Amino acid sequence: MSIQLDKGTGWAVITGASSGFGAIFADQLAKRGLSLLLAGRDERRLSAVAQQVRDSAPDIAVEVVAGDLGTAAGVDALTARFDGRVVEVLVNNAGFGTYGRFSELDADREHELVAVNVDALVRLTHAVLPGMLARGRGGIVNVASTISFQPGTYQATYGASKAFVLSLSQALWAETRGSGVTVTALCPGPTRTGFVDALGSDVSHTAIYRRLAAPEPVVAAGLRAMDKGRAVAVPGLRNRIMATGGRLSPGWLSALISGRLLRPAAATVSTSR
Ligand SMILES: NC(=O)c1ccc[n+]([C@@H]2O[C@H](COP(=O)([O-])OP(=O)(O)OC[C@H]3O[C@@H](n4cnc5c(N)ncnc54)[C@H](OP(=O)(O)O)[C@@H]3O)[C@@H](O)[C@H]2O)c1
Repeated sequence: MSIQLDKGTGWAVITGASSGFGAIFADQLAKRGLSLLLAGRDERRLSAVAQQVRDSAPDIAVEVVAGDLGTAAGVDALTARFDGRVVEVLVNNAGFGTYGRFSELDADREHELVAVNVDALVRLTHAVLPGMLARGRGGIVNVASTISFQPGTYQATYGASKAFVLSLSQALWAETRGSGVTVTALCPGPTRTGFVDALGSDVSHTAIYRRLAAPEPVVAAGLRAMDKGRAVAVPGLRNRIMATGGRLSPGWLSALISGRLLRPAAATVSTSR
């Protein structure tokens, strides 16, 4: 199945549009003729992305909504802006990770992670899906991760949040099949964006984050998968091999393997347990 979108009056809503994948989604969706509603917390960076898009695609409308999607008020402020618009595409991209032993990570930050990566995504999807189904067209791209396919040892909450995103997306893909609406989980591997810096710890020593891919092909692969009505996109051969390994292994084994691949530097590993 390939999806049909109304590019004349339609809007794409992109969360986390102030940097990384989100800014690239903005650029690539604008080139398709969709007007853009760009969301993030950093109004200055959002406005800079909006201006870049206007410069390259002057015929489309671009608006920004600054707010914290880790709060109900932030999500409400964004959904309030959906009124009166035909949302053709929703890209649930805002998110961040943490790194380290769960017991040693800041509890508030872990809760904030669930609020942004999981809660906001569910609420935003709920806000657009009924309208898309009523119109018989639309695309939702949920940015998951290759970590979705196995437990994320030393990124436990982040891995679980992305497993949720993958599972939800696949179920919604099945529920909406044949409706003209499609839901896709985009599962990037480690990629050069602001994500690694936002982890709050140096991860350059780990086997997973040693090499980072370029983000543009990842976004292009996500949009191609949406166009084709695919449930899941895992860009890159190495990532597809890792994802298949994670899917086929028992959970306890892949938890141990990901613990090896994400092991903290020697100085931070406690030997007393
Ligand atoms: N890069 C990777 O290696 C990788 C791999 C797999 C999956 N991903 C996923 O890709 C998505 C995009 O991340 P990225 O790689 O592009 O990293 P990024 O450059 O750090 O972008 C993250 C975006 O999320 C937004 N965001 C974070 N917390 C927010 C909050 N509380 N409220 C509203 N917006 C918030 C940020 O906007 P503000 O700073 O303006 O709030 C920013 O625009 C995330 O879901 C991430 O988990 C990344």
